[in-house]
Amino acid sequence: MLLMGRRRFEVKPFVLRLLLWAVIVVAGAVALYLTISYAAIPLLIWLSPTLNPTLYDLGFYGGSPSQTYVSNGLSSPRTSIGKHDPDCDKGYTFLNYNGGSIPNPGPAILDSNRELIWKGEGFAVTTNLKVQSYMGQQYLTFWSGKKGGTMGRGVYHMLDSSYDVKHTVSAVAKGSEIEGDLHEFKITPNNTALLTFYNVTPADLSSLGKWKNGWLADSGFQEVDIATGELLFEWKASDHFQVNETFMTHPFGGYIKSIPFDFFHINSVDKDSKGNYLISSRHTHSVSCISPDGQIIWILGGQRNQFRDLSAGDAVNFKWQHDARWVSEEEGIITLFDNKEGGPLHVDGPYSRGMMLKLDIANRTVTLLHSYVSQYQTRTPSQGSAQYLPDTRHVFVGFGHSPVLSEFSLDGTLLCEVHYGAPWLHVFTTAVSYRAFKSAGWIGKPREPPAAKIVDDLLYVSWNGATEVEAWVLQGGGTGEHEEEWSDLDFIDKEFFEESFDLSQLSQYSRFRVGALDREGEILGYSDVAPRESSGSWWGFVLAVFLWGVACKVAWMGYGWVARHRGAGRRGVSWVVGKKW
Ligand SMILES: *[C@@H]1O[C@H](CO)[C@@H](O)[C@H](O)[C@H]1NC(C)=O
Ligand SMILES: *[C@@H]1O[C@H](CO)[C@@H](O)[C@H](O)[C@H]1NC(C)=O
Ligand SMILES: *[C@@H]1O[C@H](CO)[C@@H](O)[C@H](O)[C@H]1NC(C)=O
Repeated sequence: MLLMGRRRFEVKPFVLRLLLWAVIVVAGAVALYLTISYAAIPLLIWLSPTLNPTLYDLGFYGGSPSQTYVSNGLSSPRTSIGKHDPDCDKGYTFLNYNGGSIPNPGPAILDSNRELIWKGEGFAVTTNLKVQSYMGQQYLTFWSGKKGGTMGRGVYHMLDSSYDVKHTVSAVAKGSEIEGDLHEFKITPNNTALLTFYNVTPADLSSLGKWKNGWLADSGFQEVDIATGELLFEWKASDHFQVNETFMTHPFGGYIKSIPFDFFHINSVDKDSKGNYLISSRHTHSVSCISPDGQIIWILGGQRNQFRDLSAGDAVNFKWQHDARWVSEEEGIITLFDNKEGGPLHVDGPYSRGMMLKLDIANRTVTLLHSYVSQYQTRTPSQGSAQYLPDTRHVFVGFGHSPVLSEFSLDGTLLCEVHYGAPWLHVFTTAVSYRAFKSAGWIGKPREPPAAKIVDDLLYVSWNGATEVEAWVLQGGGTGEHEEEWSDLDFIDKEFFEESFDLSQLSQYSRFRVGALDREGEILGYSDVAPRESSGSWWGFVLAVFLWGVACKVAWMGYGWVARHRGAGRRGVSWVVGKKW
């Protein structure tokens, strides 16, 4: 009886106390979060501008900081400079801005000041944005489709300078389930396209200790005539490589069709002037040269490596690599991106690196000429690219799954580094770009007019994709009989993707529009009459301050309550707390 009574007596305060603690913890967390984001961080940044890049890299601004433009609602990465050198290549950077927390992912072009030039909207997942030449014209090309596991199913778009889709290239199926894969789309000087495909097929996997009736993700490449869609050449890895040449392991892979075993994993195709193909296979750690009739001419790296390493093993030891490219056929020079990691179970080196290798093909020897390692010695488990820039003789490296873009002098000295997400948080797939390219000379003349919008007393203007705008002119118009007349009111030199005009002294005008001027001062286009919107942005801040106040008060009250109930004997605390409220 006594026991029962006691229990009943104890249950109520226990639940109450639990609830109280929950409230205190939640309120404390909210107060802390608001204090940090609205007070501590701005204060830190204000106090020490030199701290800013470090805060960015650690993820204080989030894993993938982005900015959204008022004039058109687009968003682009907010970048941070890790290292800068005035000699860095002045070309545009071509990215596919993807990742878990990115609001609207897509292909993006940034200028040499990391300002947005173009953001492609309305495509599915995209990879491999770059400028390529076809029939003497420049095109923006990229893959677009659905990503599944380690492969993609989609098509390749080719956009002209107006950003109209002029050609869409598909893989040739021939009764199979083959579709265009995300890893490669390369246009050759003969106006054909090289593309990769993945094909799930039944296979004997007993040499891996798996089932005889297993499932293989075979992979290979096609060469397709862009104009006619005709298949000119096809090569499949399983015809030339054994499944046990792989370094990949996957405990569940290969038993059922929906989880096939990806033994080869092709991820780049290049072609030389003799018509031979250079391919990279991530999961066999090898780069191979394939003749026009499909035979293997040589293999560099992996189990069947044929090259003697003249760099004490540091040339053929690339692992889980990407993006093998000819730099000079005559001199036997190629670049590639050596990941050194294929996921948490396959860590095979301290950091990823771009590599420049010299091959002596007749003698089958290889020399490591240069390595390209990022500022923080980034090791990225997937994706990545290395690009030789012939004009500056620099090498531009994208670290794929890690939001790091680095530019090096030929000998491997890091010159410039840009981060488009927090490098230290990259395990969370915060911001990624399968590859990154630098390229000069892209000229974009979008069909859409410039976008302009008025919020309160500011007019915001931008023109997605326009590369030739040097300045903006603000024009004001009247009403009634003067409706057709526009007067020039103000000029701004274009520096940022989005610029703004102050309208507070221009209340005599009821309508505004903006004209884009080129280098010669000629009008490239006018925006429509800018619509007006009022901002509500202060309310967010007011609400945050109010919430912060409430959270602090609740947490403090809770603490006081607990302290008084526990501290009957501890006078000091209960007295102080009791006095407070
Ligand atoms: C790979 O498998 C084949 C049979 O498919 C076998 O002949 C060969 O010895 C195996 N190689 C290795 C290295 O296990
Ligand atoms: C282009 O076509 C010519 C003639 O068919 C051929 O000899 C050459 O190897 C091709 N080059 C490439 C890069 O495809
Ligand atoms: C092979 O190596 C030898 C000795 O280094 C060199 O003399 C010869 O020119 C090389 N052969 C070719 C085809 O480059």
